[in-house]
Amino acid sequence: MEYRIKDKSLSSYGKKKINWAESHMPVLLSLQKKYQDSKPLKNLIIGGCLHVTKETAVLIKTLHAAGAEIAWSGCNPLSTSDDIAASLVVDEGLSIFASRGVNNEEYYDDIYSVLKFKPHITIDDGADLTIEFHKTMDEYGSNIIGGTEETTTGVMRLRALEKNKKLQYPIIAVNDAETKHDFDNIYGTGQSALDGVIRATNILLAGKTVVVAGYGHVGKGIAARCSGHGASVIVTEVNPINALKAKMDGYIVKPMSDASSVGDIFITSTGCKDIITGTHIEKMKNNTILANAGHFNVEISLNDLANLSTSTQNLNENVEQFILKNGNKINLIGEGRLVNLVAAEGHPSEVMDMSFANQFLSVLNFAENKNTFENKIYDISQEQDLNIARLKLESMGIKIDELTASQNRYIHDYGEGT
Ligand code: ADE
Repeated sequence: MEYRIKDKSLSSYGKKKINWAESHMPVLLSLQKKYQDSKPLKNLIIGGCLHVTKETAVLIKTLHAAGAEIAWSGCNPLSTSDDIAASLVVDEGLSIFASRGVNNEEYYDDIYSVLKFKPHITIDDGADLTIEFHKTMDEYGSNIIGGTEETTTGVMRLRALEKNKKLQYPIIAVNDAETKHDFDNIYGTGQSALDGVIRATNILLAGKTVVVAGYGHVGKGIAARCSGHGASVIVTEVNPINALKAKMDGYIVKPMSDASSVGDIFITSTGCKDIITGTHIEKMKNNTILANAGHFNVEISLNDLANLSTSTQNLNENVEQFILKNGNKINLIGEGRLVNLVAAEGHPSEVMDMSFANQFLSVLNFAENKNTFENKIYDISQEQDLNIARLKLESMGIKIDELTASQNRYIHDYGEGT
């Protein structure tokens, strides 16, 4: 076992948090119970690069209980919970390379520490590990069977790799499962992004104007929660279909150049860069709050913000205040990195339960069907999606109706019309 973490003495706090998450992740726990004796992942090394949180710890423990050897790094310099990393090392004896506040070089050192284990299966969030692996397959790739990808941005990067015929091993796009993005991205980010803004600033949302950039699943969740708190929501979009959906969901839709002078709080969730730039920042009101809920810290131009400022000060651990040349103060949360993980605790355990059940079953799929995959991006099966939804409903004590035989025939037939 090797590791590089911040402080082993934090392990007892980490363990308590992991227990809390476990008690809210019944689907993943049922998989842990099901596979802990047969150990279908025995002799497999899993290389993970995914936020080290209490929920991820439950996934890691489930993979380990099913027999896998683990090597894991964080996937964002500011998202690691150091107490969770400590518990995984001290209480579980696992190889963890992750600390909150690493610089760029340390971040990639952690990823390479994982690659040196020569993983059979990778689990990635944002594709940093997978992309580095592709550069070093000659050295570390001898065992690789397949990999999974957790997030929209990562799937986009890997689809670009596939399109360029450069994908060197099969990937399962966990993000694209309905029981992942329809819950984690919408309800998970919707709640946790606001949680981050509120923990960092304690701002009252009622009566404020929140500008949500991007109306994909994440933006949709954030807009709904802001609206529920009594804020007026403006959505900015480049996709006409998403813009129409936002309008018909009751929000004001306008370009960022118009929204920038009226918003009190801006939350980006587009997966693209330069959403808020200098020309927007110059128009913003005094005391505007900026936060990003997209995977990378490229949505708010940090260069432009710095160039427009005469000085900065830290208001607290997660808020940096920029004093602009025009005298206005602009408050940036979490260095423009994922606000929900930097300033709060990420998505609640209940949604990560389904996302990570998809991760576990995808890994199991690779383990059980090793030689049947091509170097392509695969969706998870509808059967897996339905199964996870059924298990989740069961854990919530919810029963649903079943089609009768005649209804089943009806929906699969074209004969019965008017
Ligand atoms: N992504 C968003 N929230 C998360 C969480 N709680 N754990 C791991 N990854 C996440």
